[in-house]
Amino acid sequence: MDSIWIKGGKTLEGDIPISGAKNAALTLMPCALLTEEKLTLTNLPRLADVDTFAHLLNQLGVSTHVAGVKKGEVGRRMTLEADEIVSTVAPYDMVRKMRASVLVLGPMLARMGEATVSLPGGCAIGDRPIDLHLKVLECMGAEIELAAGYVKASAPRGGRLPGGDFSFPVVSVGATENAVMAAVLAKGKTQLFNAAREPEIVDLCNLLVAMGAKIKGIGSAHLIIEGVEGLNGTTYEVMPDRIEAGSYACAAGITGGSLNLIGARPEDMQATLNALAQAGLMIEFHDKGIKVSANGGLKPLALSTSPFPGFATDMQAQFMAMLAMAKGDSFLEETIFENRYMHVPELRRMGADVDIHGRSAIVRGVEQLTGASVMATDLRASMSLVLAGLAAEGETEVLRVYHLDRGYERLEEKLSAVGATIERRTAG
Ligand code: EPZ
Repeated sequence: MDSIWIKGGKTLEGDIPISGAKNAALTLMPCALLTEEKLTLTNLPRLADVDTFAHLLNQLGVSTHVAGVKKGEVGRRMTLEADEIVSTVAPYDMVRKMRASVLVLGPMLARMGEATVSLPGGCAIGDRPIDLHLKVLECMGAEIELAAGYVKASAPRGGRLPGGDFSFPVVSVGATENAVMAAVLAKGKTQLFNAAREPEIVDLCNLLVAMGAKIKGIGSAHLIIEGVEGLNGTTYEVMPDRIEAGSYACAAGITGGSLNLIGARPEDMQATLNALAQAGLMIEFHDKGIKVSANGGLKPLALSTSPFPGFATDMQAQFMAMLAMAKGDSFLEETIFENRYMHVPELRRMGADVDIHGRSAIVRGVEQLTGASVMATDLRASMSLVLAGLAAEGETEVLRVYHLDRGYERLEEKLSAVGATIERRTAG
């Protein structure tokens, strides 16, 4: 199994190209199910999760073809075509590998009038039920049955969903995405209240409008979707990854360096940039992206995660690593997931001083972290360990890096290019 080895203490300087967003790609790819025509996605990141999703779509009958990128393009160019659906079932062995597989439920139901998707099962960061996905589809006229670990959803008489109104009791990114993808081909109108407003959902809506969908209120918590008879194919560029950009911004902070996040968009990550500025970092905007530079010692912060435009839960672990070296005590509150402090015991092994009280954490800044062998537990936790390793005295080995490969494209390459001493090692 691969591990990442880091010799810490280097100040990072230079340009980091930001890849396409994982969490946008995973909701844009299933849109191929909504049309018989070709959908081409550009700036698609090279990530394990994207490959897993392509594999799932292949099983449903969607052909996926990766073409060489055109001059000036980054990432990958993938053409997806679902002219004939051969299965409406997303099996357990696929869904258990990647819970985002549940995002085929809405589009498959809209296209075929039925869909059978395995329930995702447990996750390291929390219970993560899909009850809201099912409730909103029921409100749109779907019949939902649960049997043998599977959800079986069907439209009336296997036809088109009527559409309907739903108010989310809790903001859910995934349930909003499934609802939007189901509503665009519904017979009637759907209104979603307290919908998630994440930039990845704006990217999804913009793609669907480019395919011929009728959506109002994009970017707001109130989405109005008029169903249409059919959607056309198109070519669409995946948005840049705001979480990847925020993670590298923390690398500039924790190593006392200065990094240019090429392609990052400020409007996608304002809460993260505000927190970085409060921690004392210098933020400069330019036409190619955002420059983040250390500016004296790190200041402590009080942060609470919340849905967009609030401070992202997917940035919590990376900030904890950075604030472990701030001058003073920081307070973090994780309001989205009930078990998202798995990185804490590992950071403590590197000398961090962190106390957990339920969903809250007190991070007492220390002068120096020290290298150690540590275990990755989930995607963002593993990035916090890499950040700590970049700043630590001595050598760090991050084990189980498959977690990282799910969400960070060419991590070692990007960090080496700005001065880090880092390499991937394959055991045995
Ligand atoms: C998306 O997960 C992201 N994943 C997550 O990123 C991100 O942490 C999360 O949104 C919040 O921003 C992808 O986009 C693939 P939710 P999702 O539905 O859609 C509860 C990463 O690191 N809930 O917004 O699964 C749920 O338990 C990953 O890249 C229900 O109770 O998140 C949670 O407490 C990790 N019932 C809260 O809502 C439901 O039916 C928010 O979950 C759905 C959710």
